[in-house]
Amino acid sequence: MKEGKIRGQAIERRTRPSGIDELNPFLNHFKREEKMFIDLLRTRRSIRRFQDRLVEQEKIDLLIEAMLRAPSSRGLNPWEFVVVTEQETLARLSQAKPHGATFVKNAPLAIVVCADPTKCDVWVEDCSIASILLHLAATDLGLGSCWVQIRLREHDAHQMAQEYVAELLKLPEGMAVEAIIAMGYPAEQPAGHPRSSLLDDKVSFEQYGQKERG
Ligand SMILES: Cc1cc2nc3c(=O)[nH]c(=O)nc-3n(C[C@H](O)[C@H](O)[C@H](O)COP(=O)(O)O)c2cc1C
Repeated sequence: MKEGKIRGQAIERRTRPSGIDELNPFLNHFKREEKMFIDLLRTRRSIRRFQDRLVEQEKIDLLIEAMLRAPSSRGLNPWEFVVVTEQETLARLSQAKPHGATFVKNAPLAIVVCADPTKCDVWVEDCSIASILLHLAATDLGLGSCWVQIRLREHDAHQMAQEYVAELLKLPEGMAVEAIIAMGYPAEQPAGHPRSSLLDDKVSFEQYGQKERG
């Protein structure tokens, strides 16, 4: 671990894991490749097919750092995260709900985003922000990822998906589950959404419905 400075701030320099520059890769995004954050957003897609390749520990550490840097309401940090790499647990997570989760069994990594709702009334927002940071950090690290909604989803006619996940991961009583973020090296490469496909009609200026800029 070496020390360095960026804009006067002391930063840690990390030994370069495969595919990442020696500094925080997010900074590199700007600095080394002269890319902007919008470029990352332009390439991000949900990935549901993964290569049979493990995610390196260094990358998992960066993902953990990214989610722990998530802003939260009043800084209450109500979230808790369970990092899962065991194949058996991933396979069981993939059965959390009947649709939209099966691909988790082929992911080498999933992070389950949970929270204690008693710690913050807007824990859903807090968890969502941590989840999207994970998504974007994964994209920046060359990984694919997909959000699997657990909150409000049913496992089957008798059990909610979040109860199933809570049992599986031995979550403490009362802990709620927002989502599973499945991640791994992508085995599919959908193109980013073209600018022309974006819903500009969703945007008003100054007043709802006013489509012209003032
Ligand atoms: C709140 C939320 C819940 C989602 N739940 C699921 C899910 O349970 N299963 C799934 O396969 N994809 C899920 N997705 C991924 C969306 O289907 C995907 O983001 C959307 O179709 C747009 O595609 P894109 O991410 O490739 O742009 C979810 C995304 C969000 C933001």
